[in-house]
Amino acid sequence: MEKILVGQLAELAPRMGKEIIVGEQKIAVFRLSDNRVKAIENVCPHKQGPLAEGTVSGEYVFCPLHDYKINLNDGQVQEPDEGCVRAYETIVEEDLVYVMV
Ligand code: FES
Repeated sequence: MEKILVGQLAELAPRMGKEIIVGEQKIAVFRLSDNRVKAIENVCPHKQGPLAEGTVSGEYVFCPLHDYKINLNDGQVQEPDEGCVRAYETIVEEDLVYVMV
């Protein structure tokens, strides 16, 4: 596993996503309203919607295209829809945010 620097926590707006690209992987990084940071694959399993542009509510993001609700902890799509995306471990040290890839 590689520890990839995303940036400073303060650069991430609360309840907004930011896309980072690591090799072939598109990753959506989110800062929750309580300052925890989550990261999932930035490709919706429905029709490849950019999840980083979705709406964050609690520990979920809603896909901006057709509103799939995805758990930011494990990448699971919530019922009645189906599917999942990869979830990544995140680390916040001092004010720096990292994703384990
Ligand atoms: S592409 Fe995400 S819900 Fe359709």
